[in-house]
Amino acid sequence: MNKLIILASGSGSNAIKIIEYFENLNDTIVSAVLTDNRHASVLDKCKALDIPTVYFSAALFGSSAFIDLLNSFYPDLIILAGFLKKIPSEVIVKYPDKIINIHPSLLPKYGGKGMYGANVHKAVKENKELESGVSIHYVNENYDEGQIIAQYKVDIDIDDSIEQIAKKVQRLEHLHFAPTIETILKKNG
Ligand code: GAR
Repeated sequence: MNKLIILASGSGSNAIKIIEYFENLNDTIVSAVLTDNRHASVLDKCKALDIPTVYFSAALFGSSAFIDLLNSFYPDLIILAGFLKKIPSEVIVKYPDKIINIHPSLLPKYGGKGMYGANVHKAVKENKELESGVSIHYVNENYDEGQIIAQYKVDIDIDDSIEQIAKKVQRLEHLHFAPTIETILKKNG
């Protein structure tokens, strides 16, 4: 049985899609959703789906107790689904090629510190990009710079609002994140 843990900071729509996707398969479970935001709405959504959740404080994040917490779930992969803090190198060295992030742009464009959510789509619009998309990548010590696993593109119309771009990109995220995770798990054996 493959075990996933998901780190999420906000609404958790991707986390929920992943949970629902693997609920329909027999070989993978989402063991828990971990959050650094006590008020994240993903917490209520997980409760409704009977998925264990854990809140961790900023003080715990990256500490040996935090690594113990991750280890306690024996995760095959750690999934960042809208988790906005940088993962400390202490954690990365314990889980090489096991931490996966989704980013709402075609990296290396529009990545880096402060580039999340609407900030990304605003920059895409301001630069009059004709396409945007989603990048799924391994996490390394630098924001959004780990090896890219998969990218999915969508056309952007010049008249699209930031909200419309966000919607198009989110649609791609919901469609592709879970199947891409499944592919990685299969590849890892
Ligand atoms: C997603 O669009 C994800 O790509 C983005 O946060 C959103 C979370 O949405 N992540 C980043 O920008 C990371 N740099 P969700 O909480 O509804 O899944």
